[in-house]
Amino acid sequence: GTAGLGTEIVSVINKLQDVFTSIGSGPGGQAGIDLPQICVLGSQSSGKSSVLENIVGRDFLPRGTGIVTRRPLVLQLINRAAQAANGVDKTADKAANADEWGEFLHLPGEKFYDFHKIRDEIVRDTEAKTGKNAGISPQPINLRIYSPNVLTLTLVDLPGLTKVPVGDQPRDIEKQIREMLTKYISKPACIILAVTAANTDLANSDGLKMAREVDPEGTRTIGVLTKVDLMDKGTDVVDILAGRIIPLRLGYVPVVNRGQRDIENGKPISSALENERDFFENHPSYRSKATFCGTPFLARKLNMILMHHIRATLPDIKSRISKNLATYQSELQTLGGGMGEANSGNIVLSVITEFTSEFRTTIDGNTNDLSLNE
Ligand code: GDP
Ligand code: NA
Ligand code: MG
Repeated sequence: GTAGLGTEIVSVINKLQDVFTSIGSGPGGQAGIDLPQICVLGSQSSGKSSVLENIVGRDFLPRGTGIVTRRPLVLQLINRAAQAANGVDKTADKAANADEWGEFLHLPGEKFYDFHKIRDEIVRDTEAKTGKNAGISPQPINLRIYSPNVLTLTLVDLPGLTKVPVGDQPRDIEKQIREMLTKYISKPACIILAVTAANTDLANSDGLKMAREVDPEGTRTIGVLTKVDLMDKGTDVVDILAGRIIPLRLGYVPVVNRGQRDIENGKPISSALENERDFFENHPSYRSKATFCGTPFLARKLNMILMHHIRATLPDIKSRISKNLATYQSELQTLGGGMGEANSGNIVLSVITEFTSEFRTTIDGNTNDLSLNE
């Protein structure tokens, strides 16, 4: 069906992303290939990491008050059932007992079945590169989550916009974070999840403001309203959803994440998602439109937008890959034969050739079948 096809295409994109990251030409690198991905953008503590966690459906991201996310986290969600069915993931059988696991690019082959250990490793590697005292770094952490319970998506968790330096942060922290975020969100292939807390004024939203700077037409910005549960009694986000405050072409999705108390009490995501559903289904303002509210709707919407986006950018990605392939081939010819298997150019070439042909089959065979009408 259509959904499976989309999953296959996104999984090829994910693999390409890994290859280009591991050969040092990752997002923004010299290969110049901008693969589609979804980035969260918003003020510090607006709930960005919480939104990502709810989409994944597992506890694994450092969250909380203050600056917690201090390096970009490139998060690839891979639907494991779909992978196994496509025969892409050869390791799926071996780990048949374990439903879900994570794997870091900087720790190849090491599978994390305990999601709390994933969080520990994110914290450890963040501190290793930025120190313990609120420092930041543009160097990304690359993490893959394999699970039967996720849609195949690539998400990037980013530090929040902040104005006043704390701890070891540089005096120009605002400028540095803006530059880091701009690198990700200015790419035409980036879909921006502009996160705003519903208990703050939308007109003051740093995320929306910055999104508008890089995407003035709003063709790749989707609004997410968090903390809808914390709004003053008698107020709601209905006018925002209806596009009467700051219209967004792709619209807004309201969500309810866990509060700080829930996090401290170890409230599981499953019951948080149940609460979220109850909240929207029983709230007088949202009852009639509850199917367009909450995390599951956001995840479905994201996947559709991503598919649409991939379909639109495939021809460009394909031609760039061919161009790179030609460059590597002529470089190899310059180096001459007889360099053997150990030659890194050979390895890069064979990896790219493999992915290009896989990619070509997927694109040429299926592009016209890709439909957004589920
Ligand atoms: P980030 O800095 O944007 O990544 O924000 P976090 O996800 O770390 O969340 C910051 C704080 O806001 C945490 O204490 C969360 O528990 C809380 N929070 C986030 N979303 C919601 C929500 O929808 N409702 C409530 N009540 N609290 C939330
Ligand atoms: Na935070
Ligand atoms: Mg965060």
